[in-house]
Amino acid sequence: MSVQLVSMPQKEDKPDASKKAKPIMMQEKKTKKKQAKKKASKAEKSIAKAADNVLIEVKDLKVHFPIRQKKLFRTEVQTVRAVDGVSFDIRRGETVGLVGESGSGKTTVGRAILRAIDPTGGDVIFHGKKRDIDVGELAGEDLRKFRKKMGMVFSEGSHSLASMGADILRAFRPRMSLVFQDPYSSLNPRMTVRDIIAEPLVASGLMRDRDEIDRRVRKIAKRCKLNLEHLRRFPHAFSGGQRQRICIARALVTKPDFVVCDESVSALDVSIQAEIVNLLKDLQEEMNVAFLFIAHDLSVVAQISQRVAVMYVGKFVEYAPTEALFFKPRHPYTQALLSAIPTIDPDEAFDPIKLEGEIPNPLAAPSGCRFHTRCPYASPICSREEPVWQEVAQEHFVACHRVHELDFSRDKTLKTKEKDNAE
Ligand SMILES: Nc1ncnc2c1ncn2[C@@H]1O[C@H](COP(=O)(O)OP(=O)(O)O)[C@@H](O)[C@H]1O
Ligand code: SF4
Ligand SMILES: [Mg+2]
Repeated sequence: MSVQLVSMPQKEDKPDASKKAKPIMMQEKKTKKKQAKKKASKAEKSIAKAADNVLIEVKDLKVHFPIRQKKLFRTEVQTVRAVDGVSFDIRRGETVGLVGESGSGKTTVGRAILRAIDPTGGDVIFHGKKRDIDVGELAGEDLRKFRKKMGMVFSEGSHSLASMGADILRAFRPRMSLVFQDPYSSLNPRMTVRDIIAEPLVASGLMRDRDEIDRRVRKIAKRCKLNLEHLRRFPHAFSGGQRQRICIARALVTKPDFVVCDESVSALDVSIQAEIVNLLKDLQEEMNVAFLFIAHDLSVVAQISQRVAVMYVGKFVEYAPTEALFFKPRHPYTQALLSAIPTIDPDEAFDPIKLEGEIPNPLAAPSGCRFHTRCPYASPICSREEPVWQEVAQEHFVACHRVHELDFSRDKTLKTKEKDNAE
């Protein structure tokens, strides 16, 4: 098999005895040894991640859109940096919430992970249950076997998901899914509910036998608490909540490892939102599927997520376990978002932080810390230098120059060591 365990030394690392030029041979040997060492340490890290139950590793993901603007005598090309260097991971069976104002790049992150759009840079790595496979090495029988197998993995490097060929990508697609925000426009009005749910199975070629497909569709419809009689109907007959159940059934029918829920409950009434969130939680427990749950409402995200990432103008500003993010936020933007959640505790004052101005356009993102134009704590360094993405507590990542001076813990009043802002 051409399948390679990434921890194994590579074949080409063996010295070639037929070469006589000794010094060159030794030099080559050294370089190859170095390469092998580098590869091995990369592989070790990768395996450590897998042992940590990491399903998806996103490394320095960038999605830039070129925009052509016609000027008087020329066409000017500008770049929308919708996602500009985002790194995080998602564990198997975990829900990671992704929040931020509209236009911050949340949808683009989700779509780039699913390869619905091509990333400009970075890596998206999928770890399997047993081992990593370099998909680029697969051919012939191995590739056919791989396509039939679930629980296999895509390795890092030049053959990561970001650079996968169309045929391999097609084979990979059933393992990932997307639930859209608008359950009205995302369902084809001319298809029955049965056909809508079955579509990913048929399109991916996972199943061909009609009875087998019917059995799978009925099973997932039942799990999503849909009435089996409804399978023969068309989507216009359903309410928003029921339509979203249909969307979820379609997303889960291929038993994927990973689903992106993009504002999936945002358009629904609060009571229906709670029903859908509970359904997603139940399904996750049964199917061990991981979710990237995108929303602009932090309170909804808190109900379902184990970890939450906060995004601002194409960058993550904070990523932490949900409880830490809610009770010990470290970034001023997170603090502002949290302060906007209405409280039902009569003893707690509702005092939202008013951020001045609009979210900046990613066509002309501010220099240094992108939040400096609206941050109440900005100091001169903030507009000059980009803050480093650093781990300030276990699994708690923040990008802010003043992270060690600011304390937004809920049980304490805000403390700042008002050092000299003038540096
Ligand atoms: N295909 C595209 N071409 C150009 N700009 C885009 C495209 N898709 C998204 N954008 C821009 O990228 C930014 C982030 O968009 P998006 O990911 O949809 O944000 P969010 O989901 O957080 O609202 C926005 O400024 C948006 O206008
Ligand atoms: S780096 Fe400066 S501007 Fe950015 S969030 Fe921190 S204090 Fe505010
Ligand atoms: Mg969006």
